[in-house]
Amino acid sequence: MAIPKILIVTTLLVLSATTTAAAATKSPTPSPSPAPAPSPAFVNLTHLFTVAGPFQTFLNLLQQTNVIQTFQNQANNTNQGITIFVPKDSSFSSLKKPSLSNLTSDQLKSLLLFHALPQYYKLSEFTNLSSSSPVTTFAGGQYQLNFTDNSGSISISSGWSNARLSSSVYSTDPVAVYQVDQVLLPVAIFGVAPPLPPPPPPAVVPEVPPAPVMGPSSHDGTSASSPKGSDTANSAPLHRLGYCMVLAASGGLMLLL
Ligand SMILES: *[C@@H]1O[C@H](CO)[C@@H](O)[C@H](O)[C@H]1NC(C)=O
Ligand SMILES: *[C@@H]1O[C@H](CO)[C@@H](O)[C@H](O)[C@H]1NC(C)=O
Ligand SMILES: *[C@@H]1O[C@H](CO)[C@@H](O)[C@H](O)[C@H]1NC(C)=O
Ligand SMILES: *[C@@H]1O[C@H](CO)[C@@H](O)[C@H](O)[C@H]1NC(C)=O
Ligand SMILES: *[C@@H]1O[C@H](CO)[C@@H](O)[C@H](O)[C@H]1NC(C)=O
Repeated sequence: MAIPKILIVTTLLVLSATTTAAAATKSPTPSPSPAPAPSPAFVNLTHLFTVAGPFQTFLNLLQQTNVIQTFQNQANNTNQGITIFVPKDSSFSSLKKPSLSNLTSDQLKSLLLFHALPQYYKLSEFTNLSSSSPVTTFAGGQYQLNFTDNSGSISISSGWSNARLSSSVYSTDPVAVYQVDQVLLPVAIFGVAPPLPPPPPPAVVPEVPPAPVMGPSSHDGTSASSPKGSDTANSAPLHRLGYCMVLAASGGLMLLL
């Protein structure tokens, strides 16, 4: 059954090719016939979010705002496809500080669209996304994400949150769904970044010795001469002092060795 069909199709193709060629004799530029893109298999996003995850909170929000239609339409009907970053239910429940509960419906929509890119990206393309960051999301405008590909470990910065791409849920052109370990909070809604995270542990090998900078040293002078300054003003020089002591100690250690 299948073979005759193929034969017929091939014959038709050959026929149409020859007629096209005959018609195009005056413009002999041989265009390597761009094969008509085979319509990709339908990916039911609702079903995918239902069976994977648990992504029920995200799915509920998508349905409540109808953004699921936007995503499904992009998946169904575009060549670009779609890449969606999905936080698990636990990421929503652990979200304490900025509450999603008093967002307007437009803001909620933007927040959800912010979790997607209007193009399919496989994991190997995130190196490229890193170098072209910031990348505009499906929400458009200032709703941008910064990607960092640190030898395969991909971080996504929304300005507010710094999430990690924790696993690939589904990735076949034109649909990619990746799990992220945090809800992505756009600066465009929540304002500037939250208080700085605690400084990273100084276990890493210092690549470059800190260059002597004019600014901070003169700042040291002023804060040192005004000991009544606030805690924050004093803490910086203290930190630096501690750092110097560590350096001195390690230097001494090296001398002993
Ligand atoms: C997609 O999946 C959902 C949930 O499994 C189902 O209710 C819906 O009918 C499906 N839609 C299509 C178009 O198959
Ligand atoms: C996507 O395609 C499926 C299957 O063809 C169809 O049932 C569904 O209505 C489409 N949805 C959108 C939003 O285009
Ligand atoms: C959100 O609502 C809570 C309580 O309803 C309120 O305390 C908080 O200030 C509100 N946040 C914003 C950004 O409006
Ligand atoms: C990666 O980015 C470069 C330009 O920055 C572009 O020319 C190239 O096509 C991109 N590759 C992929 C796979 O997107
Ligand atoms: C992305 O990186 C640029 C340059 O480092 C920075 O100016 C911008 O604030 C970052 N945006 C986000 C959303 O993290």
